[in-house]
Amino acid sequence: MEVDSKKILEIQSKILSWYEINKRELPWRNTHNPYYIHLSEIMLQQTQVKRVIEYYNKFTMFYPSLEDMAQAPKSDLLSHWIGLGYNNRILRLQKSAQSILENYEGKYPKDQKELQKLPGVGIYTSGAILAFAFNIESIVVDTNIRRILIYEFNLDENISQKELEELAEKITPKEKAREWNNALMDYGSMEITAKKSQIKSQGKQSKFVGSTRWVRSNILKKLLIEKYIEIELLKKTYLEHDIDKILEKMQKDELLQIKKEKVFIFEN
Ligand code: ADE
Repeated sequence: MEVDSKKILEIQSKILSWYEINKRELPWRNTHNPYYIHLSEIMLQQTQVKRVIEYYNKFTMFYPSLEDMAQAPKSDLLSHWIGLGYNNRILRLQKSAQSILENYEGKYPKDQKELQKLPGVGIYTSGAILAFAFNIESIVVDTNIRRILIYEFNLDENISQKELEELAEKITPKEKAREWNNALMDYGSMEITAKKSQIKSQGKQSKFVGSTRWVRSNILKKLLIEKYIEIELLKKTYLEHDIDKILEKMQKDELLQIKKEKVFIFEN
């Protein structure tokens, strides 16, 4: 995609001056520690900023270092995570912490492709870690940034993710990746809202109650309180759901263990 360099400069200057006046105070902006940035981005993937703040503070308090995260008992991690949802996220974060300690001497690699080898880290999260922890120009396109690009550059809403990623990289001001991406986060959520821009967001969360996600979450919550659950009881409770399939998937995700006719929390 061809973009006029004058237009790029204009947009950079508009957004950066807006940010100077309107920036939000967020706890993960007070650090350059890649593990804290990683933790915050994993939490922010599917959860709103307001909710994440409390959990971010709790997790950085309980698990202040990569080692603490890597060694934590799974059931503790999951108990603290309850309420945020998409519980696999925290297990993948723990696996990432273990991998960084084992394979990278405890130091996050400063390379977007390399970071994407970590479980749960895709192009967006790897780009965010590089920008926010190391101030390295990278590809960062989340739903907010997508909306800004479409709105400011008058693009077709059907534009491919690949083209958006190229554009995002092109318009990042030199040596300002951190400030720029923070500015975009705020500008996108406060100024170019979905409502105001009329640009539909992608991948909207579906209804929770009654969904498979809801059943998984209920099973996990109960297992964190009780030693085990009889599978028969689950089948009688969730008549509309394929409990065998749900349990198998949860076992594969290392959330629980199936033994005989019962399920137990996964212990590490
Ligand atoms: N959403 C995703 N990442 C974010 C960040 N670093 N700050 C604010 N909102 C975000």
